[in-house]
Amino acid sequence: MVVFLIVIFLLLNFLSGPLAEQRNFIFQSLNQTIRDELSFKGDSTFSREALQLTPDTLNNPSFLQNKSGRVIIPQKFRLWKNNHVASFHSSFVINIFHPANIAAEGMTFVILPSLTQVPDNSHGGFLGLTNSTIDGSPDNRFVAVEFDTFKQPYDPDDNHIGLNINSVNSTITRPLTNDTYGYNLILSPTNVDVFFTVWIDYDGTRRKIQIYMANHDNRSITVPKPSIPVLTSQLDLSKYLLQDSYFGFSASTGDNIQLNCVLRWNLTVEIIPPEPGVDVKGLLLKAGVPCLVMSIFVIMWLIWSYVRAIRKKQRSEEQLEFALKTLPGMPKEYAFKDLKIATCNFDDRNQLGKGGFGSVYGGRLSKEGIDVAVKTFLRDNCQGDFLSELTIINRLRHRNLVPLLGWCYKNKNLLLVYELMPNGSLDKHLFNTETPLAWERRYNTVVGVSSALHYLHNEYDNTVVHRDLKASNIMLDSMFNARLGDFGLARAIDNEKTSYTEQGHGGMPGTVGYIAPECFHTQKATRESDVYGFGVVVLEVVCGRKPVLIPEVDGFRLLIDWVWMLYREGRIPEAVDERVLDIREEEEESGYVGNEAERLLRLGLACSHPMAEERPKMHDIVQIVNKKMPVPDVPHFKPAFIWPGSSPGLLNFSSYSSGSGYPNSDGTRSLNTRPR
Ligand SMILES: *[C@@H]1O[C@H](CO)[C@@H](O)[C@H](O)[C@H]1NC(C)=O
Ligand SMILES: *[C@@H]1O[C@H](CO)[C@@H](O)[C@H](O)[C@H]1NC(C)=O
Ligand SMILES: *[C@@H]1O[C@H](CO)[C@@H](O)[C@H](O)[C@H]1NC(C)=O
Ligand SMILES: *[C@@H]1O[C@H](CO)[C@@H](O)[C@H](O)[C@H]1NC(C)=O
Ligand SMILES: *[C@@H]1O[C@H](CO)[C@@H](O)[C@H](O)[C@H]1NC(C)=O
Ligand SMILES: *[C@@H]1O[C@H](CO)[C@@H](O)[C@H](O)[C@H]1NC(C)=O
Ligand SMILES: *[C@@H]1O[C@H](CO)[C@@H](O)[C@H](O)[C@H]1NC(C)=O
Repeated sequence: MVVFLIVIFLLLNFLSGPLAEQRNFIFQSLNQTIRDELSFKGDSTFSREALQLTPDTLNNPSFLQNKSGRVIIPQKFRLWKNNHVASFHSSFVINIFHPANIAAEGMTFVILPSLTQVPDNSHGGFLGLTNSTIDGSPDNRFVAVEFDTFKQPYDPDDNHIGLNINSVNSTITRPLTNDTYGYNLILSPTNVDVFFTVWIDYDGTRRKIQIYMANHDNRSITVPKPSIPVLTSQLDLSKYLLQDSYFGFSASTGDNIQLNCVLRWNLTVEIIPPEPGVDVKGLLLKAGVPCLVMSIFVIMWLIWSYVRAIRKKQRSEEQLEFALKTLPGMPKEYAFKDLKIATCNFDDRNQLGKGGFGSVYGGRLSKEGIDVAVKTFLRDNCQGDFLSELTIINRLRHRNLVPLLGWCYKNKNLLLVYELMPNGSLDKHLFNTETPLAWERRYNTVVGVSSALHYLHNEYDNTVVHRDLKASNIMLDSMFNARLGDFGLARAIDNEKTSYTEQGHGGMPGTVGYIAPECFHTQKATRESDVYGFGVVVLEVVCGRKPVLIPEVDGFRLLIDWVWMLYREGRIPEAVDERVLDIREEEEESGYVGNEAERLLRLGLACSHPMAEERPKMHDIVQIVNKKMPVPDVPHFKPAFIWPGSSPGLLNFSSYSSGSGYPNSDGTRSLNTRPR
């Protein structure tokens, strides 16, 4: 198919003619031959292997006064058509030496409408371009770059370049002795051996002119083009010039004199293709051939679509693999064989967890000598979806996130390899255990989770919203440091709606208790809803109870409501997990500090505020858990949830239902988590 497309492309190209051809004029050494190729007007001559725009006869200075002349390539160049403006590049070497006291007047590189003579009385300040009658007239139809050595009333100084449009009064000028620009070029020195190479680049697409200059002391040498232009300006030539114009130079002297020589000259102009004439090829082009080409194209397209449909599946898999391989920062591709060995052929006994998406297996990579958790995916059709999310995850690096080590793609199966977290998930240590977490570790967990969330919300270059914070998504490494789990992947597997309502571990309505109330209305995860989930986790950690109380406690079904009641009644220490208290009685050094627990509980309540805009921000939360800031005041009665709230954040945060993982309107990204 690609071959066919290329053939069509070539065919079309052949018929319509090349688009960006150039016409080159290179007058490298100016000799007598060149004289016959150029048109000399006014007082211009050819001598001493140079174009003398004004005469060069040093013996008789009075002969040099009040002169004006032009030298033009006697060929038309098409410079614009419809919206297309031709680009051109010119470089030339000039010498503007002056023998007497003061130099005058200047020379120009000019694009002219015709080959007519220089106007009468175009000497002096008129630079061989205009005279006092016609200066400034829009009928002049010229654009010139002036190299001006004499200060007229409208000039900034006697040593500048400028852009002249139909007038010698420039539309824009640049003094050449300007330290700010790093230039100190004296256009007309009294030393004859000073040459300037000038580069004029015109970009027709961007309608922009740039002029560069460099001086040297040998007319024959080639010097490098400076990096900084002396003059840059927007310039739409099609506004001022005739469609077909001429390139040349002009110059003048006044009572004071100078040489105005061009010693070398290159010019390259982009060719705009002319309108096709009425010939056989033109007719073909206009009628027959396009039809033929179109029908061929349609047939090709039909065949191509068919082939594409067949190949689509296969291709998307190849694409996925390619995308994975080229993902920026994607850690490592593992051999399937190695993962198979590591997990004893994905033996059930190595299974660490199971979910709607697939399973997680523990194992040891003998080569690297590291323990890994290998995540498999049941369905292959969802793999493309989370690729975009993977691009975010693989770039996240934080000591409180579970590190993604690499991936493997084999027989349409994607496997992701994570560092194994030897101590499993936080919920196990809070609820299903004989050895409950010591206070110090609980506090450390809260510190870790807040640090990870702060990173996602504020430090990573694209804001990431975790979306499904809960105890079962918080893993504990060998040092019992909290690590936020492998977020982002599950979302691609199940549709959005299920995320907040699905059944958690053990058939309990696990995640319900973690969802901020506004999310039921907005279906959107926000930084604030993450903070809400964080608040719930904090309460869980301190109370050692799940967010939904089964059976009810003191008539309360939600942990938040129960803690809030205890807080109101000044009984908040009663909310703290009794098993922590037991440990304290047994071993004094376990580090339980009642004060700390109370701070965390109040922080948990503040984060669980029903109104999103009242919840503290992660930035402050990190300060609070690190005891650098006091806990914010918490109202004694749990405030009512009012919808809609006043928070602008609710209106523009990440879209919960789009779920693409791409930045949303405010630059946030949405991610989602599943238990491993
Ligand atoms: C003049 O210069 C042109 C190129 O610039 C060159 O082709 C030609 O041979 C030269 N003629 C003489 C007489 O040197
Ligand atoms: C040059 O021209 C100016 C007016 O354009 C005139 O005043 C002056 O006398 C002329 N000088 C000579 C030497 O012809
Ligand atoms: C003109 O072009 C030739 C060949 O590209 C190059 O060697 C030469 O230096 C150019 N001359 C000027 C004045 O830029
Ligand atoms: C200026 O040039 C135009 C056209 O060449 C001419 O008609 C006119 O007389 C000139 N004006 C003066 C003052 O020489
Ligand atoms: C030069 O042009 C500017 C505007 O571009 C104008 O204000 C000024 O009067 C002109 N000067 C002369 C001497 O014509
Ligand atoms: C150099 O050019 C800049 C911008 O036009 C101007 O502000 C500055 O005064 C100039 N400096 C000198 C020394 O002419
Ligand atoms: C100028 O450069 C040319 C070649 O680059 C060299 O042959 C010549 O001798 C130089 N002239 C001077 C005066 O240095």
